[in-house]
Amino acid sequence: MNFKGNHILSVNQFDRDSIQKVFDVAARMTPYAMREKRTTVLDGAILGNLFFEPSTRTRVSFGTAFNLLGGEVRETTGMSNSALAKGESLYDTARVLSGYSDVIAMRHPQAGSVSEFAEGSRIPVINGGDGPNEHPTQALLDLFTIEKEIKYHGGSIDGLHIAMIGDLKFGRTVHSLSKLLSLYNNVHFTLISPKELGMPEEIRATLESAGHRVTVTEQLEGSVDADICYQTRIQEERFPSQEEANRYRGKFRLNQDIYTKHFQSKTVIMHPLPRDSRADANELDNDLNMNPNLAIFRQTDNGVLIRMALFALTLGVEDIVSKFDRAV
Ligand code: CP
Repeated sequence: MNFKGNHILSVNQFDRDSIQKVFDVAARMTPYAMREKRTTVLDGAILGNLFFEPSTRTRVSFGTAFNLLGGEVRETTGMSNSALAKGESLYDTARVLSGYSDVIAMRHPQAGSVSEFAEGSRIPVINGGDGPNEHPTQALLDLFTIEKEIKYHGGSIDGLHIAMIGDLKFGRTVHSLSKLLSLYNNVHFTLISPKELGMPEEIRATLESAGHRVTVTEQLEGSVDADICYQTRIQEERFPSQEEANRYRGKFRLNQDIYTKHFQSKTVIMHPLPRDSRADANELDNDLNMNPNLAIFRQTDNGVLIRMALFALTLGVEDIVSKFDRAV
């Protein structure tokens, strides 16, 4: 995969070599993210950070990553603050905004919208989540986290057992992560959800045709040897009505007692966040906060490294970052 000057729209663009390239560059970004070093390699460059759907982590970490490389960030948040609300097309918006910056990160509630936008853009566009479809940068940071966590326990992604729990129908992070994991060998996917919120058939078929073991269940029982427990939020905003979403709220909860009962003591707990902490949902209880296997905040930290790497690669500066080191 050639990164320089190209869009990053889907995990389908990646193979194992290109994933490894991103991970290598991300690892080299660590001292900059830790504020041990400072670089101005992107001095003068501008990120257009366009978020037409709510976000905390993705939006802020894209901005932070660009700032840490020395660049500036221009933000547009919310559909009502943009001319899209006046009927302007994604194509026209892209033609205009790509004249104002060097790279664009974008989130939008409709599946396929970021690709449609990229058709009008003259600069690289990075998908920050398009409706229920994909979230490629989250999948990369999740996989990066999985690799680090599993290595710590002496394992590897090949042969991994991952239990994915919750809303696997509308949860774009599990769609993108499953596709990336399918590039590895002998992964066991245990997919735990109500039938109506199951993993889309085409993704299950992709996993099975790549030779992976897929177990579909509505129960936590049977996941005890999972290396990773990947919990998701019920994506209430994507249901036809709030009434329907309410039927699933609180269906899959994880707390220390349930974890101890259903998982091995080294199972790593992941969640893309935000976690729904309302009392009737409580999908990932605060009593897990001190559990050393809770990796959710290591995931969010890794998001900065991965997004720094993607900016460096798409703008072609990955090999000269340290040439622009400045005093801390
Ligand atoms: N994981 C994630 O995409 O979080 P935000 O919605 O806060 O960006």
